[in-house]
Amino acid sequence: MISDIDLIDVKSLNKVINETYSVDFSDYATTSFKRRVEKAGNSLHIPTFEVLLEKIKTDTNFYERFVSNLVVDTTEFFRDPSFWRKLREEVIVKFRANNTIRIWVAGCSSGEELLSLAILLKEEGLYDKSKILATEINEFALMKIKSAVYDAKSLETAESNYERYEGKHKFSDYYTEINGEITMKLDLLTNVNFQAKHLDDSNIPGKYDLILCRNVLIYFNPALQDRVIGNFSNSLFPSGYLAIGVKESISNSRKGNEFVVVSQEENIYKKK
Ligand SMILES: C[S@@+](CC[C@H](N)C(=O)[O-])C[C@H]1O[C@@H](n2cnc3c(N)ncnc32)[C@H](O)[C@@H]1O
Repeated sequence: MISDIDLIDVKSLNKVINETYSVDFSDYATTSFKRRVEKAGNSLHIPTFEVLLEKIKTDTNFYERFVSNLVVDTTEFFRDPSFWRKLREEVIVKFRANNTIRIWVAGCSSGEELLSLAILLKEEGLYDKSKILATEINEFALMKIKSAVYDAKSLETAESNYERYEGKHKFSDYYTEINGEITMKLDLLTNVNFQAKHLDDSNIPGKYDLILCRNVLIYFNPALQDRVIGNFSNSLFPSGYLAIGVKESISNSRKGNEFVVVSQEENIYKKK
């Protein structure tokens, strides 16, 4: 059982991950990161911290499973319905005259947020001219999205959120259900390009009209939040929109002054 790892352990872990996989977790918020490392190691039945380091160093498949247990992947279809209403009414409608609508969903987890966006765009008649980039550090999550299969237990929340979002159809129009699982309609994913990427990677191709990055920054320390918000600012067209989670903020970022507030309650910003 792994418990009570200290800052020196965290540093050695980050060094091993960085040297072996060129992925940097060193600017994640320390207290929650330590807790997550212990939890991930224990979920994977690793007896000691030393064994954990060795497995990560030598076994790529184990490393990917470790990351999948390390990150917080909580998500929902139409999570925070008032956000989705505001997004539709204050942002998406502004794209009607665009020839192409370019959207980046950053930290898309297992895809519920991405699929909610696709449903919104379909219902507004804008999906066909949308090009969506979905990025995620957890490769298992990306694989799950491509299969589009979800536990039917998520339906109660999904249907209630969709109703509160005031969608135009029924949520059941977007999936088929068999044996306790739902498969989302695959045409919701046709305009999506998936990439396994760390948000600290400034090498994101293209410019975007909208970036959704909700409930991700909260796991980063201020230095990493600052760099990521800088990447977002560089990746947006002038007058492009950025939406972050309700508990997150861009106000302490050096790039915060490059944005104006569109909705304080829903944390939606527009690049100047
Ligand atoms: C709590 S979930 C939020 C999912 C979704 N955005 C939502 O709000 O429902 C956070 C997601 O961010 C991803 N993530 C964490 N660190 C990341 C990083 N450095 N780069 C890209 N994605 C990251 C996690 O793997 C996880 O899927």
